[in-house]
Amino acid sequence: MPGIQAMSSNPVIHIERLYKEYQTDAGPVPVLKDVAVTVMPGEFIAIMGPSGSGKSTFMNILGCLDVATSGTYLLNGRDVNIQSRDELAHLRNQVIGFVFQGFNLLPRASLEDNVALPLIYSGIPRAERMAHASEMLEKVGLGSYRRSRPNQISGGQQQRVAIARALVNHPKLILADEPTGNLDTHTSEEIMALFTELNQRDGITIVLVTHESDIAAHARRLVRLSDGRIVYDGPVEHAAAAHLETTS
Ligand SMILES: Nc1ncnc2c1ncn2[C@@H]1O[C@H](COP(=O)(O)OP(=O)(O)OP(=O)(O)O)[C@@H](O)[C@H]1O
Ligand SMILES: [Mg+2]
Repeated sequence: MPGIQAMSSNPVIHIERLYKEYQTDAGPVPVLKDVAVTVMPGEFIAIMGPSGSGKSTFMNILGCLDVATSGTYLLNGRDVNIQSRDELAHLRNQVIGFVFQGFNLLPRASLEDNVALPLIYSGIPRAERMAHASEMLEKVGLGSYRRSRPNQISGGQQQRVAIARALVNHPKLILADEPTGNLDTHTSEEIMALFTELNQRDGITIVLVTHESDIAAHARRLVRLSDGRIVYDGPVEHAAAAHLETTS
């Protein structure tokens, strides 16, 4: 990547000179420093780096859950800094699906209701929302668990539900912050197989944070952060060498 399809289309993400600092009692703390990255449709990127290097901060900005202190961010060609609140919410909803480490499922709601949640704001009638949700649960291999609740299924299955929920708006881009962080090795591999399928079969762009090289190996491109800067951006197969140079 970028392949032929990617080269003939516009970036999903284009970031230049991005800085982020948090305001603390001790003054401003710089966390992202001059970050630049362009992501083309269909890419599968792993973000790695030591704890505190700014990975989650970066993902939150990518997902429009937080804003940069300065710099340019074009999401699907739109400058997020000049969108109104409503426009930004709409853009985010249309383009991005989120998957978090902790799954963030509603414990008392059925899996179907959990997956349908992002559609509540879409104005689609309930019956149709449920049909969409079922379809997404089928897609992640949990069709027969529609009426179960999150505490009745395993961690890996819960993460599948979270992925189904991220898919329900048919996003172009999935952002996943340590999606296998709470899962055992075997279950992590299953979740990564699902991401790979979504990437290869459905062409969904994936940006995923992980601490594990084995997980990153499923991606094609690796971006390594260290102390708020990108210190490696290239093919994932070269990652091992890059890792030795920047040992976390
Ligand atoms: N709300 C905040 N206010 C102040 N500082 C923050 C805030 N959020 C994060 N930080 C600091 O920003 C830096 C980057 O944090 P971030 O959560 O992005 O790291 P990370 O790479 O995701 O780490 P981990 O691998 O542990 O998840 C850290 O030094 C952290 O303490
Ligand atoms: Mg983090």
